[in-house]
Amino acid sequence: MEFSLFEKKEKPLIEAALIKFLDKSVSQEGTLSQAMNYSLTAGGKRIRPLLLLATVQSLGGDVSKSYEIATALEYIHTYSLVHDDLPAMDNDVLRRGKPTNHTVYGEDIAILAGDGLLTLAFEIASGGSLPAGKKIALILALAKAAGPKGMVAGQTEDIEGENQQLSLELLKAVHEKKTGELLKFSVHAGGVIADVPPFVNTLLEEFASHFGLAFQILDDILDVIGDSKELGKKTGGDAALNKSTYPGLLGLDGAKKALKSELISGKNNLLQIENYYKNAGGKFDIQLLSEMLDLLKL
Ligand code: IPE
Ligand code: IPE
Ligand code: MG
Ligand code: MG
Ligand code: MG
Repeated sequence: MEFSLFEKKEKPLIEAALIKFLDKSVSQEGTLSQAMNYSLTAGGKRIRPLLLLATVQSLGGDVSKSYEIATALEYIHTYSLVHDDLPAMDNDVLRRGKPTNHTVYGEDIAILAGDGLLTLAFEIASGGSLPAGKKIALILALAKAAGPKGMVAGQTEDIEGENQQLSLELLKAVHEKKTGELLKFSVHAGGVIADVPPFVNTLLEEFASHFGLAFQILDDILDVIGDSKELGKKTGGDAALNKSTYPGLLGLDGAKKALKSELISGKNNLLQIENYYKNAGGKFDIQLLSEMLDLLKL
């Protein structure tokens, strides 16, 4: 299946799920609910839920049972952006083409809106019709990916990496945590929902690692050469804060090469999965995930 067709069908369903769960859980009048709603509906590419659903679909799993966990993931990602933009962190004023949450609602409410999104995510993940065992496994994996050994650790190391020249090895580890972990969860969850065998699970993990690192390398590159209007966020912030980034460490050409190499490795993993199913019998639609990887090409 073509990714563009898949996105056309699934993105509206993701948008509807994001709002449905908020409406169900939070009173509509309060400032908190408005602030949460503001960042959730500000736009965004929805890459993480799309990657989760695309993984399920490409492996012949039941997409209809995947919306709760996909929504929970996007809630957590959105909270991470609200907090990432705070003055104490990256101090950004533009996100998803709109003023950042704290510039509209104030820092206090923005922090609480982030807290609300993070907590509500786990309430949402506990619902839906997946078997209880799978749900618990996914909730555990999501907590680990988002938590103090995953995204939160990466964000901490990102802040501590300001005004320092990190080695490539350390920088890669920061990126793998701050951005890679949630993207890896997207693919992992898809594999769990579609009941993949352990061999495929390992290949999916490798694919997702390359996808996740490529995603943040591209984000770093676009912070240097991207168009603010197109991205919906200000560029140049990494250099202004003296962040450790791929272009900062390797130069623009070096960063582009690193990006290319991650994309090639990710594609190889997909070919390996395709090959496995050819031999073992079974379904794998390589096109969807392959085209998602292509989204990260410059
Ligand atoms: C931005 O993520 C933060 C990073 C991890 C680089 P996205 O580029 O997915 O942002 P949205 O969700 O589309 O706004
Ligand atoms: C953010 O990385 C990763 C998160 C966990 C939110 P960045 O700080 O580079 O993301 P942008 O560029 O502000 O979107
Ligand atoms: Mg940041
Ligand atoms: Mg930032
Ligand atoms: Mg960035």
